[in-house]
Amino acid sequence: MKAKSRKNHARSSEKMTQLSKNSLVEGDCVAGLNSLPEGSIDLVFADPPFNIGYGYDVYHDRREADDYLAWSEAWIRAVHRVLKPSGTFWLAIGDEFAAELKVAAHRAIGFHLRSWVIWYYTFGVNCKKKFSRSHAHLFYFVKDAKNFTFNDDQIRVPSARQLVYADARANPSGRLPDDTWILRPHDVPDGFSADQDTWYVPRVCGTFKERAGWHGCQMPEQLLGRIIRLCSNPGDVVLDPFSGSGTTLVTAKKLDRRYFGFELSPDYAEQARKRLQETNIGDKLSGVENPFMTQHKVRKSGAGKGKKTARRT
Ligand SMILES: C[S@@+](CC[C@H](N)C(=O)[O-])C[C@H]1O[C@@H](n2cnc3c(N)ncnc32)[C@H](O)[C@@H]1O
Repeated sequence: MKAKSRKNHARSSEKMTQLSKNSLVEGDCVAGLNSLPEGSIDLVFADPPFNIGYGYDVYHDRREADDYLAWSEAWIRAVHRVLKPSGTFWLAIGDEFAAELKVAAHRAIGFHLRSWVIWYYTFGVNCKKKFSRSHAHLFYFVKDAKNFTFNDDQIRVPSARQLVYADARANPSGRLPDDTWILRPHDVPDGFSADQDTWYVPRVCGTFKERAGWHGCQMPEQLLGRIIRLCSNPGDVVLDPFSGSGTTLVTAKKLDRRYFGFELSPDYAEQARKRLQETNIGDKLSGVENPFMTQHKVRKSGAGKGKKTARRT
């Protein structure tokens, strides 16, 4: 082997060794992603800053729109590079930049959009002069429209034919998602089930036991659980470029996936690592699988633990 190629080989195996260790790296995700081997990741879930002026400790969340869009395109391109040919990319984004980022990921970068899922949540910020926001967009992209992991058996739910009509023609394995709009889940509890592409998962509210309490954008483990089960297999590598409180990595670990994350803030990274240390493979996901049937566990004091954090939406 020539010296240059030996050097490249050594560098690449060093990167692979880094990858095989489950880790959360402190620093900028664009540089971090670009330092990883091409085509090495199975699933990326990204919940970037929405550019709405949210108060993170280090990151400044109000850039010029063009600057934010150029940066978004840079990190989404870096995600595309590290994904395997069969890789999947989920992007959580607010209304402000959803349309532009969808076009960038699809048209400019070449991702294929499989679903545009709406995550409907309760406990958003109450608005007095406009409708209170109660949703975020979840874009489900794949690199190759014909080659991806889709474990539908992991997310199938009983159909109405099975539950209501006792119809012998019902598929005993249940059914796959519908495409349905519902305004308030409380008004139509039967019509807003986990099998539809408008998802009802409560936000991790301040009183929930699940709440880490030091990051205002903590996503629910149940939401990540559905994505990780569906789009990856045990042992696969799940990556989160914007780890925040570490929910993606914690959920991946519980579900026996390898995990890799980046986080700009040293403080968030340190606290998320603690959360990961307290997590074991096989642990039950926090939160309840069916929010209509079961109540969330709340703290006795009724308040969130740790320092108070504002909500993002
Ligand atoms: C919306 S939060 C992610 C919340 C996360 N989904 C959770 O469940 O906790 C976005 C995070 O991205 C981090 N961040 C911002 N710019 C970054 C960058 N260039 N590289 C890595 N992390 C970054 C912020 O510090 C913030 O913690």
